[in-house]
Amino acid sequence: MSKTILKIDASARKAGSATRDLTEKLVNGLAAKIAGAKTVTRDVAAGFPLVDEEWIGANFTDPAARTDEQKAKLALSDSLVAELKAADVIVIAAPVYNFGIPASLKSWIDLVARARETFQYTEAGPEGLLKGKKAYIVAASGGTPVGSSYDYATTYLRHVFGFLGITDVEVVAADKLAMDAEGSIKAANEAIDALVAKAA
Ligand SMILES: Cc1cc2nc3c(=O)[nH]c(=O)nc-3n(C[C@H](O)[C@H](O)[C@H](O)COP(=O)(O)O)c2cc1C
Repeated sequence: MSKTILKIDASARKAGSATRDLTEKLVNGLAAKIAGAKTVTRDVAAGFPLVDEEWIGANFTDPAARTDEQKAKLALSDSLVAELKAADVIVIAAPVYNFGIPASLKSWIDLVARARETFQYTEAGPEGLLKGKKAYIVAASGGTPVGSSYDYATTYLRHVFGFLGITDVEVVAADKLAMDAEGSIKAANEAIDALVAKAA
C-alpha cells in the first residue's frame, strides 16, 4: 500500500523561509526513498478561524444529533482531521515565533486535536488515537536554541503529537540562524540527509 507524506508549512514567509526550504528537502528525500509515496501539502500560514462557543458546542454534541449548522461548523476541522488521519508520515515546520509556534499553526492544532476523533479519555487517562505514524519537526529560530528550556515550539509540538498518539518523532533544527546562518543550515541539511538515509 502506498504511503502518504503530509507536509505542513507554517512560515509567514513564502520566500527566504528556512523551514519551507528544509521541509521541501526532507519531503523530497523521503518521497524518493518510499516506493509509491504520495505527498500532500497543507500550508497553514494564513491560519484558520479560532474555535468559538458554537464550535465547542458542536464538537461536544453527539455526531448523530448534530444539526446541519453544527455539521457545517465542524466541516473544516473534519477535513483537516481526515487529512491527518490519512497521513503515514508528517513533516511539520516549526518556525519559532516568540519562543513558541506561530499562532497560525496553533489554530491548525486546535482544529485537529479533537476528542473522540484524535484522542480520547479512558479510565487510565488520555489515549492518542493516531497510531502508527512518524513525524518530523523541522524547526528554525533566530536565537532560541532548539531543545533549550525556552524552546516552547518543538517541545510543545512533540507533546501535542504524543498526546494524539504520534510518538515516533524526529526533530531537525536550523536554530540560532541570526548568529551563524551558514553553519546552522549546513547542520540541518546534514541532519536531513542522515534521517533520509535511515528512512524505510
Ligand atoms: C514574528 C516573529 C517572531 C520571532 N520570534 C523568535 C523567537 O522568539 N526566538 C527566535 O529565536 N527567533 C524568533 N524569530 C525568528 C525566526 O524564528 C526565524 O526567522 C526563523 O528562520 C523563522 O522560520 P522561517 O525561516 O521558516 O520563516 C521570530 C520571527 C518572527 C517573524
